Amino acid sequence: MQSSPLEQALNPFPFYRRMRESRPLFYRPEDETWQVFRYAEAEQVLNNSALFSSVRNRERGQERPLQNSILNMDPPQHRQFRSLVTQAFTPRAVAQLANRITSIVTHLLDEVTGSGTMDIIDHLAYPLPVIVIAELLGIPREDRALFKTWSDAVVNGVDGRGQNRPQPAMSDYFLQVIEERHKEPQDDLMSALLNAQVDGHHLSRQELLGFCILLLVAGNETTTNLIGNALLCLDEQPDSMEQLYAAPDLIPGAVEEVLRYRSPVQLTGRIALADTVLGNQHIQAGQRVVANIGSANRDEAQFPDPDRFDIRRSPNHHLAFGHGIHFCLGAPLARLETKIALTLLLERFQDIRRVPQVPLEPGESILMHGVKHLPVTFRQ
Ligand code: HEM
Repeated sequence: MQSSPLEQALNPFPFYRRMRESRPLFYRPEDETWQVFRYAEAEQVLNNSALFSSVRNRERGQERPLQNSILNMDPPQHRQFRSLVTQAFTPRAVAQLANRITSIVTHLLDEVTGSGTMDIIDHLAYPLPVIVIAELLGIPREDRALFKTWSDAVVNGVDGRGQNRPQPAMSDYFLQVIEERHKEPQDDLMSALLNAQVDGHHLSRQELLGFCILLLVAGNETTTNLIGNALLCLDEQPDSMEQLYAAPDLIPGAVEEVLRYRSPVQLTGRIALADTVLGNQHIQAGQRVVANIGSANRDEAQFPDPDRFDIRRSPNHHLAFGHGIHFCLGAPLARLETKIALTLLLERFQDIRRVPQVPLEPGESILMHGVKHLPVTFRQ
């Protein structure tokens, strides 16, 4: 029986299983694209940037906000630009944010305290990453509402459903902040990026702008979905929720399992640069290859009992943050934000339960897996 698009978006996992079993590498001539459903081949695709290029979309003449970002670069350019950014974005630098993230989450939870009800998305999962990235970049507090609107517009543009280019006002705004930091550096990521260099190369203004947009697009909706999906998983598995209430040190492992079980980013694409064999299929140069991360993470050949949500699963080498040279730069930040959000939620609110009368609605983006709203009730 065919499921509706809505059911498919909320639960693509039975479809993935059927594809892994029947057509693990599936070619559609209409769009010259191979869909890859198994872990082994998805990992091979992500691991081989010499054969599977990330330089996509350009030849189609489309103007996309991420076109010139490191996400869409191959070596050697990718290495050079990524290293500029990692100088300013190290796991150590991120770890220093823990106190700030704790106080942002505390403030967000204070807003709903006493009401006994909250929307996990609207009140926590959505504002948290936007505020953190705005602070990291050094966006003044009073401009944050503006910043949020732009960040949404850019995210909606990524898969072609909304405006397909960055808002001019946003570009002007960022360029202005860049000029201000250039004149007067502050202790923020923007100033660090202005300062970073490799082989005497500083980022140009346009490159800096592109990087700011990348952080908005790559970091916000993904983290929102991770936090939302975590609550969704825990609501579905009350035993796991109880275990986390009793032993909060299990939270980091639970976050990894959410990443595997309901991966916020479901797929990513490449283009074959040469004829090759993948699985036992012949791929031709120029064909597109989509690694279905969400399916790879449920592959029975990699994960025993893959449809079981197990917060103690070990090993858990999921592909939720990608693999190889494009491995997510923001992974430490996303993990930290989600860990702190869950820790404080469970510390402060007892008996958190989804309001079952409100039907789940999937997010807009076809690349992502998450819900638009997640109302819950709780006791204090
Ligand atoms: C790359 C997922 C959060 C910044 C990636 C990739 C994935 C991913 C799958 C690889 C894409 C590919 O290979 O084509 C996620 C998930 C997140 C998350 C699931 C949250 C749960 C963040 C955050 C930031 C960020 C918070 C920054 C603030 C980036 C950047 C890249 C990237 C810059 C490109 C790296 C490169 O091309 O070298 N992410 N991400 N991500 N992510 Fe994330």
